Amino acid sequence: MPSSTHVSQLLAAAVQDAYRSALDLDITQDDAQIRVSTRPEADYQCNAAMGIARKVGKPPREVAQAVADTLLQPGDADRLIAAAEVAGPGFINIRIGDDWLGSAVEQVVTDERCGVPAASSPKRFALDYSSPNVAKEMHVGHLRSSIIGDAVARILRFAGHEVLAHNHLGDWGTPFGMLIEHLRDVDFGAADAEDADNPATPTIADLNAFYQQARVKFDSDPEFADRARHRVVLLQSGDEPTLKLWRMLVAESTRHFEQVYSLLGIGLTEDDVYGESFYNPVLADVATELEDKGLTSISDGALCVFPPGFTGREGEPLPLIVRKRDGGYGYAATDLATARYWLLERKCDELLYAVGTPQSLHFRMVFEASRQAGWLGEEQTATHIAFGSMLGADGKMFKTRAGGTIKLIDLLGEAIDRARARLELEDAGSEAEDSDTIARQVGIGAIKYADLSSARENDYVFDWDRMLSMEGNTAAYVQYAIARINSIGRKAAGAAGTGAGAAPETEADAASGAVVLGEEPERALALRILQLPAAIEAAIGTYEPHKICTYLFDTATEFSQFYQKCPILAPTTPPDVRASRLALADATGRVLRLGLGLLGIESPEHL
Ligand code: ARG
Repeated sequence: MPSSTHVSQLLAAAVQDAYRSALDLDITQDDAQIRVSTRPEADYQCNAAMGIARKVGKPPREVAQAVADTLLQPGDADRLIAAAEVAGPGFINIRIGDDWLGSAVEQVVTDERCGVPAASSPKRFALDYSSPNVAKEMHVGHLRSSIIGDAVARILRFAGHEVLAHNHLGDWGTPFGMLIEHLRDVDFGAADAEDADNPATPTIADLNAFYQQARVKFDSDPEFADRARHRVVLLQSGDEPTLKLWRMLVAESTRHFEQVYSLLGIGLTEDDVYGESFYNPVLADVATELEDKGLTSISDGALCVFPPGFTGREGEPLPLIVRKRDGGYGYAATDLATARYWLLERKCDELLYAVGTPQSLHFRMVFEASRQAGWLGEEQTATHIAFGSMLGADGKMFKTRAGGTIKLIDLLGEAIDRARARLELEDAGSEAEDSDTIARQVGIGAIKYADLSSARENDYVFDWDRMLSMEGNTAAYVQYAIARINSIGRKAAGAAGTGAGAAPETEADAASGAVVLGEEPERALALRILQLPAAIEAAIGTYEPHKICTYLFDTATEFSQFYQKCPILAPTTPPDVRASRLALADATGRVLRLGLGLLGIESPEHL
């Protein structure tokens, strides 16, 4: 039994070998085109023959037959492929051997990776996510970025890649002139910024309003606007008293962001902050480099690059502004410096950005310019992990009932409260050791799962009732399946412990039976359990965590079929069948927990 239980990958390798030995053809594993079969007579199918036959000028069924015969060469009794039959124009229907399936499930039970192989060529990724703006509340777009980015980081790391997470805080630029000037006006510096209980110290709750106040003054009071502009110059020239105030603003905001991260279980720390200000010292160099490489031109007094292939409505080339006509640097320049830094200094193979779809043109242009500049090499890639908007149940932009913008920390608090109410409502929390922990796991899990389970580029509707439902593709449904499995394990362990003075066995002992697949629901569940590696691979291929959600939902659903039709602990179930079913349940619990964990969602022990 190989250490990987990645069935479709093992089949692809077998098909690859078969092409070589039967037809002397070299094909890739992708060419093998292994798909899960939707027909009752097959588990998987191989769709390769049609395309390959065309290339080598042979009838597809003949090619398929030669491959199928080779696949079926007699081997070990517990071989992977039990049947391979040619069907239709040249498909091969494949049935997996029951013994092989059984021992693969046994392996899932003892392997902390649940049979998921590690990446054969690990890469180094730079992943930009969360990236809120200082002196403003995080909004729902930042929530989505945080949730999606964090899941992508977990999935890639689990697969064996290195992920350098960086939080591109909006902590620099002209608004800081007015913000700092307003800080001075309200005598912020005089208050003890260390003392969070001191009511004189503004907290971020004030700062959203604070930002508005500064804005109003800036727009209506020319004297203030002048001071603000001068303050920008001081900030950029490194004036220490100005920097001190700027740092206070950043620290105040960071405190707030960290509160959200900790409640959400997002792994970003202070060490991951690479805000816009971080790149400020190199912006002039970046501009010079682009000029030296002949990539820039002056347009309306601004230094611009015009990456090829990007045109506006009238067919006019679109610029990325490197240096504004007033000599300042903006968002695009900073992102060019960011790409250069993570590619050249940090030697990343892939750049990833979890940012909303409205910025997709910006990123495509930044990527193209980075290619032209020679920073993004042939072997490297840059990907915008774009996502749609979060909408209210009415299908409009997400707002509070009163129409205001939502404070994330309140939203998360509400999720936890609703989860608590819901669990009590269904009287499911009776066994709860720590209902606060469970309420948090279920509430935060609901928010994350609802976000991750829809294809990320679609807008998604935020709906409390749906996300907290125990039915359907929700966190609670999967968490509930896990809790039920845990409870079966506990009961089995308890029952085993009561036998003729035997010492109480552990859950693992009680479940460590040989897996024998007798009934159809057992077999179907076993096949599902073994699809975890493929689900993870698919999610990585397109950076789409919803593929893992779909897998979890399908697996939990398969489990409930099995649970209904195959009694586990009933007295009439023979001991060996019972042990086998316990092992199946145990393996299911393990893949579900692992999958939820990759999404950053915890599984309560009880529900
Ligand atoms: N701070 C930006 C915003 O709130 C997002 C930054 C995304 N990252 C980047 N490298 N541009 O829209």
